[in-house]
Amino acid sequence: MQGDALGELVDRVAEKSKQTPFGDGPEYEIYPAELSEPYFSRRAEVGYGMYSLLGIDRDDAAARGAQMAKNFRFFGAPVGMILTIDKQMGAPQFSDLGLFLGNIMLLAREKGLHTCPQEAWSLWGRTIREVLDLPENELVFCGVAVGHASVDAPINRLRTSRAALDEVADFRGF
Ligand SMILES: Cc1cc2nc3c(=O)[nH]c(=O)nc-3n(C[C@H](O)[C@H](O)[C@H](O)COP(=O)(O)O)c2cc1C
Repeated sequence: MQGDALGELVDRVAEKSKQTPFGDGPEYEIYPAELSEPYFSRRAEVGYGMYSLLGIDRDDAAARGAQMAKNFRFFGAPVGMILTIDKQMGAPQFSDLGLFLGNIMLLAREKGLHTCPQEAWSLWGRTIREVLDLPENELVFCGVAVGHASVDAPINRLRTSRAALDEVADFRGF
């Protein structure tokens, strides 16, 4: 989507969020409710790093909400994509979709473009199906903002840490 089509979705979500700020109800569980370690801490570290760079206090719900709302304008990108998957599909096919997403992101870089994958869009599945006239069986997995990153924006200074290799891989038989 771009131009008026993108504007229509963004405007509809902005309008609806006055009544239902947290969306239509999740399409799927973005994170497990009881996220265990080490995942919980890793997730918190990314959130802390991002909000610190933006100067947003942990308890400042209004500022956090405003930052979250930027998702639903594709962070100002001129092009927005919505990735959907048939609702009958399970974990193996979600993994295929992740590969597809990753390849879109790499191909965009090859063309000099930047992307931001956005699972946040899955909070607005029903509205997206309405606006884009999608069949009911299409589950909204994520959005993707496509454009040129504002390299000077503080948020784009975020560099997430990486776990040590021996934390994520176990080489046997070497
Ligand atoms: C599948 C996927 C979905 C994401 N969804 C969102 C999102 O909805 N909103 C957001 O601000 N960032 C989103 N992110 C970006 C991450 O929060 C993180 O900032 C980004 O991936 C950079 O960290 P990394 O270099 O460790 O990947 C998403 C990333 C991925 C891979």
